Amino acid sequence: MAWKKVAEKNTISSNNGKEFDINGKKIAIFNQDGYHAMDAICVHQDNSIAAGKLDGDIVECPSHFWHYNIKTGELQDYLKGIKLQTYPVEERNDGIYIDL
Ligand code: FES
Repeated sequence: MAWKKVAEKNTISSNNGKEFDINGKKIAIFNQDGYHAMDAICVHQDNSIAAGKLDGDIVECPSHFWHYNIKTGELQDYLKGIKLQTYPVEERNDGIYIDL
């Protein structure tokens, strides 16, 4: 694991997510009650959840509306025990960093 700068501050608006390509991985970072980072690819049909609608800690995949907890990565419906990988993320003075 290594911290890596992924964006300038204020590039992810509040209550929204954004997708980043980091070391060949698609990562979604959400700005909701702090920053939260997780793999962006939905386990259903491999579409990105980064632009999904947020409701508290829950993001809704824009494609077919499966739901994930943005703090734990846990899928909320249909299949038990499925989690997207989450990553520590920090806002520092010079930008947003992820430990990947
Ligand atoms: S690809 Fe996410 S719900 Fe279908």
